[in-house]
Amino acid sequence: MSNDEFPTDEPAVVTCGLPYANGDLHIGHLRGYIGADAFNRALQTLGQDSIYVCGSDMHGTPVAVNAEQEGVEPEDFALEWHHQYEETFPQFNVDFDNYGHTHDATNVETTQEIVRTLDKEGYVYEKEIQVAYDPDADQYLPDRYVEGTCPYCGAKARGDECDEGCQRHLEPGEVEDPTSTITGNPAEYRERTHKFFEVSEFADFLTDFLDDLEGTSNARNQPRQWIEDGLQDWCITRDMDWGIDYPGEDGDDLVLYVWVDAPIEYISSTKQYAERTDDFDWEQVWKGDGEIMHVIGRDIIQHHTIFWPAMLEGAGYNKPRGIAATGFITINGKGLSTSRNRAIWAKEYLDEGFHPDLLRYYLTTTGGLQQDVDFSWEAFQETVNGELVGTVGNFWYRSLLFAYRNYEGTPDADVSAEVEERIEEAIADVREHVNDYSMRGVGQAATQLAQFGNEYIQRNEPWKLTDDEPEKAAQVIRDCVQIAKAVAVVLEPITPDKSQALWTQIGEDGDIADAHLDEALAAPPATFEEPGELFGKIEDERVEELTEKLEERVEAAAADEDETESDDTDGDESDAMTATDDLEPLLEDRIGFEDFQELDIRVGRIEEAEGIEGADDLARLEVDIGFETRQVVAGIKQLHDLEELPGTRCVLLANMEPAELFGVESNGMILAAGDEADLLTTHGDAALGEKIQ
Ligand code: MF3
Ligand code: ZN
Repeated sequence: MSNDEFPTDEPAVVTCGLPYANGDLHIGHLRGYIGADAFNRALQTLGQDSIYVCGSDMHGTPVAVNAEQEGVEPEDFALEWHHQYEETFPQFNVDFDNYGHTHDATNVETTQEIVRTLDKEGYVYEKEIQVAYDPDADQYLPDRYVEGTCPYCGAKARGDECDEGCQRHLEPGEVEDPTSTITGNPAEYRERTHKFFEVSEFADFLTDFLDDLEGTSNARNQPRQWIEDGLQDWCITRDMDWGIDYPGEDGDDLVLYVWVDAPIEYISSTKQYAERTDDFDWEQVWKGDGEIMHVIGRDIIQHHTIFWPAMLEGAGYNKPRGIAATGFITINGKGLSTSRNRAIWAKEYLDEGFHPDLLRYYLTTTGGLQQDVDFSWEAFQETVNGELVGTVGNFWYRSLLFAYRNYEGTPDADVSAEVEERIEEAIADVREHVNDYSMRGVGQAATQLAQFGNEYIQRNEPWKLTDDEPEKAAQVIRDCVQIAKAVAVVLEPITPDKSQALWTQIGEDGDIADAHLDEALAAPPATFEEPGELFGKIEDERVEELTEKLEERVEAAAADEDETESDDTDGDESDAMTATDDLEPLLEDRIGFEDFQELDIRVGRIEEAEGIEGADDLARLEVDIGFETRQVVAGIKQLHDLEELPGTRCVLLANMEPAELFGVESNGMILAAGDEADLLTTHGDAALGEKIQ
C-alpha cells in the first residue's frame, strides 16, 4: 500500500464488516454497506481501479446460538440468511463485486493456509486454560454462551466482548461472574488446551501500522491505548462443532474462533472475484502493494486494527491502508434495538415504496462517519424534501425543462468561465473528500453545486432574456445543463439510480457509473427528450403515519416481551445506546436568577481538536470565545470525529474552575447533551463571546 493520494496506480479493495448470517438486515447494517459502496464508487469516479467485496459471516456463537433457538442446524440457518442478504443488497444499489460467505471452500482453504503459516512461523502456541462449562447442558460455553461482568469497565458483558461498555474484546475466562446463557447456571471451569496467536509479538509493527493508517481517528486512537496498556496473546480456537477446523491433526475437535476466519473472507472474496475476471490480481492487493480499505462499525475496531493486521503481517500479507469506523444509528433519539423492534428494517423501507437512493443520501450525508446518526421519519423527510427535492431535483428539472422547451436540448454555446471554475472547484472538493474518506463531503459538494445552479439561474433570469438577448439566454441555459450533468456525476456514488436517470435524460449513453469525475466538464449531447421530475416530496401525512406505525410497533414489542436485555443476540445493534432510554429525572430544587447569572456561558468556536495521549476519552480543544482562545479538555475523543470539529460553533462555560487532566490544563467546559456528547451550538448570528442568558 501507499499513502499516495487516490487515484494510485495500485488496485484497491474496499470491504465492509461481514454481517452475521443470523437475522434481518436493518438500517444499522445499511449505513456501513451503503457508506462503503459509495466510497468504492467514488474511488472509481476518481479513476482508481477499485472493487468492493464482502460476504456473510456464518460461524461462531452469534449464528450457533440463534440457530439453536430455532431448532435448526447452524449451516442451514446461516445459508438461508446468506441467500436473503445476497438478494437484499442489490435492492439498495449496494454493488458488491463479489459476495461470498465464510463457510465456502475458498474461505476454508484460505483460512487454513493462513493459520498453517502462522503456526509454521512460530506465532502459535498451545496453552492450558480454564474454559467455562455448563454441567446441566453438558457443554462448554464459548463466547455468547456465557455472560457476566467486564473486568475492565464493570459493564455487563458477553463472553468475548464488552458490547455494552468499553467494547473491548474479552479472552476466554476473562468475563467475571460468568453464567450460562443456556440454563442461567453459574458457569463451572474446566481445563482445556487451546491455541494462542502471539499478538504481543506485533506491538512495534502495530504501532507503526497505526501511524500510517488512514480513515477515522477513532480507529487509530483506541488501539494506541490498547497497545500502551500491553497486548495479550489471542486464543484462536473454540470448543465447538460449528466453524472451520483447526488445520492438521493437532486441533482434533477444536474449531477456529470466528474472528479468525471472518476477516479472511475479505481475501477469499477478492480471490473469487479475480477468478471470474481476468483483469484483477488478488495477490497484488493482498500480498503486494495494493490499497486495502475497511469500513467497519466502531464496535469492531480492535479486531480490525490489532488482531487482523497482526495476522496479515505474520502470514506475509499486505496491510490495510485505511480503516473507517462508523458510529451507530439511533431511531428517534434512542438506541436501535432489534428485540424491541425499534429499527427500520431493510425490507420494510422498500415495502413502504421509498427509493433506495433517498436512504443512501440520508445515511451518508446526515453525520460525519464517526458520529452516531439519528433516523426519524421527520428528519428523513426534511432531508429528502429540502435537499433532494428542493435543491437537486428542482434545479435538475427546471433547467432541463427550460433547455428542452427552448432549444430541444443543450443550447449551442460554450460554458462560461464562471461556471467552469465553479465545477472545477466542486471536482477538487470531491477529490479531497474522497481522500479524507468523507462521503458526507462528497454529498455536500453535489448539493452545494446544485444550490449554486439554482442561484445562478435565479440571478440571470434566462426567461427574461430569450426574446431580447437570445445569445445570453442560450449561454445561461448551456451553463445550467452543464451544472446539472456535473451534479449527477458527483452524486452518482451516493444516488446511483437517480444520477443514471438524469444522465439518460440529457441524452448521454451508457452508464454514469463508468464516468470519470472529469466528465462533469465534458459537453452534454446537443438534443434530448422532455425531462421528468426525479424526486417527489414526502408528504406530512405520510410521515405521521410512518412515525405512528413505528411507535406502535415498539410499544407492542415492549408489551409482549419481558424486557430482559439478554435476548439481543445480534452483533450489530448497540445495546450501549439503549441506556439513553432512561432520562435522568428532573431536579426538584429550583434556583434563583442570580444563581444562573453566576454561570458565565459564552458562544465559542472550536479552532483545534486533538486526542490526549494516554486518555481514552479526552480531547484537547482550543476554543475561540471572542476575547481570547481557551484550552479546554473535553470527554469527547471517542464520540466525535476530532478532525471535523475545527470550525464548529459551541457553547462554553467560561468561568469553570481551571482543572488539570492528564497533565493538560482545562480552562472552561464545553456544553454537550447526553452520553453521546451532542455538542450545543447556536443557530443565528451570535458573535463569538456573546453571553448565553
Ligand atoms: N460479523 C461481525 C459483526 O457483525 C463482523 C465481522 S467483520 C470481519 O460484528 F472482519 F470479520 F469480517
Ligand atoms: Zn468493558
